[in-house]
Amino acid sequence: MERTFIMVKPDGVRRGLVGEILRRFEDKGLRVVGLKMVVPSRDLAEKHYGVHRDKPFFNDVVEFITSGPVVALVLEGPDAIALTRAMMGKTRPTEAAPGTIRGDYANSTEQNLVHGSDSPETASEEIELWFRTEELLSEA
Ligand code: TYD
Ligand code: MG
Repeated sequence: MERTFIMVKPDGVRRGLVGEILRRFEDKGLRVVGLKMVVPSRDLAEKHYGVHRDKPFFNDVVEFITSGPVVALVLEGPDAIALTRAMMGKTRPTEAAPGTIRGDYANSTEQNLVHGSDSPETASEEIELWFRTEELLSEA
């Protein structure tokens, strides 16, 4: 079993795609162990995208992610990290395969609907950053 942090970004919430995105993950067999809608603070967004601090798109992506409510999720299942990354599709809309979430619904690199942790280390860090332990379902 593995846990991953997933976020439906502000464009996904605005476009009414929360249900569609969650349905895909649940239909695939992933279990929702954490779920909340929040407007991220600038501090939270900067920590979340801290690895990209020196990239030219850092400020824009932080502005975007703080522009409205997001749905933060913790999903659990076998190989949850690789599985959700495959289901999300590549970062850029020109590279995201049809059948993936980004491939089917995104046409912008910045506004690409969904975030997912990319390794066990980032998953742990992101889950801890976004959720308190008591907000998550326990193992059973
Ligand atoms: P990254 O971690 O590379 O992509 P992913 O979300 O697939 O893990 O980048 C984080 C986010 O930053 C990405 O989802 C959208 C934004 N971004 C840009 O706006 N421009 C870019 O050139 C890149 C690479 C990312
Ligand atoms: Mg990333």
